[in-house]
Amino acid sequence: MAQAVRIHKTGGTEVLTFEDVDIARPGAGEVLVRQTAIGINFIDIYHRTGLYPLPSYPAGLGLEAAGVVEQVGEGVNTFKPGDRVAYCGGATGAYATYRVLPASLLVKIPENVSDETAAAVMLKGLTAHYLLRNTFRIQKGDTIVIHAAAGGVGLLVCQWAKYLGATVIGTVSTNAKAALAQQHGCDHAIIYTRDNVPQRVKEITQGKGADVVYDSVGRTTFMDSLDCLAKFGMLVSFGQSSGPIPPFDISVLSQKGSLYLSRPTLFHHMADPKEYAANASELFALVEQNMLKVFIGDTYGLKDVAKAQSDLEGRKTTGALVLTV
Ligand SMILES: NC(=O)c1ccc[n+]([C@@H]2O[C@H](COP(=O)([O-])OP(=O)(O)OC[C@H]3O[C@@H](n4cnc5c(N)ncnc54)[C@H](OP(=O)(O)O)[C@@H]3O)[C@@H](O)[C@H]2O)c1
Repeated sequence: MAQAVRIHKTGGTEVLTFEDVDIARPGAGEVLVRQTAIGINFIDIYHRTGLYPLPSYPAGLGLEAAGVVEQVGEGVNTFKPGDRVAYCGGATGAYATYRVLPASLLVKIPENVSDETAAAVMLKGLTAHYLLRNTFRIQKGDTIVIHAAAGGVGLLVCQWAKYLGATVIGTVSTNAKAALAQQHGCDHAIIYTRDNVPQRVKEITQGKGADVVYDSVGRTTFMDSLDCLAKFGMLVSFGQSSGPIPPFDISVLSQKGSLYLSRPTLFHHMADPKEYAANASELFALVEQNMLKVFIGDTYGLKDVAKAQSDLEGRKTTGALVLTV
């Protein structure tokens, strides 16, 4: 038997149930993976609460993990039993000890990268990749603002943007989170619980404003994010950890400086299997070279997933969270 965390209805962390489930056999093009480390992401909370409804219930949760290939299905020649692999995306259900997955979703983990690191970096790292390399292509000398700079995605964006030559301004809630962001490439940490963010950004940029703001916080930060931008700047709204953004009048974009607004998702950027594999190998190369340090703020057992999710929701965490099996 395998163990899986599932939900039968949406709601608070009390709807998370720990269940015994049968281990499926891999069909054609599929691989059975014994999972060793599972990444937790804010999207898991949107799935649990119903903000992002799932197709049917009961449903598995989780979109990212690492482990070892146990068995391969017909026609799979890219993996063999014993290979260490990681993945993100696909159907929800990563909170489990075993999983059958399409071979096209798996990537091999480099030898000197641990399972925990791989599970911590796939989804968040590929997100940082498309944010900085596609949605707004960072050039040397650009100034960025990243909210939740000490979070899972935030610490990776800080380091990668710095590596690409940007000046990085990060917003955080506490002094401790500011110090952590600064250790990961954030040039200026603004403590938003104390300071006015647009005003500080204007001071730091000598009145110009930022070229791009990456905003995953949503409801509480959206309008301030627009006020942080330089003329022709871009707001990349990629999440809503504080709640959904209410409808807004697009003429505000012209009033505030002919601004651009994008609302992207990783899943469009990883839809092409070749691109997904290439982006994952670029990501792992940066991890191997130590250009990207993957900070795991906490690990939990699979049975403690409710605590992990409530810590994440409660802004208690830093970096990535991993469930170990
Ligand atoms: N669109 C995409 O493709 C994509 C992909 C991956 C992730 N995301 C989004 O990126 C965001 C970050 O994900 P993550 O897993 O790395 O989480 P995270 O940033 O580690 O955790 C969320 C952080 O957001 C900040 N926050 C501000 N207001 C909050 C509130 N009201 N409730 C909870 N947190 C609040 C907190 O940092 P402070 O204490 O410093 O305020 C908190 O630690 C999420 O919104 C997620 O949905 C989007």
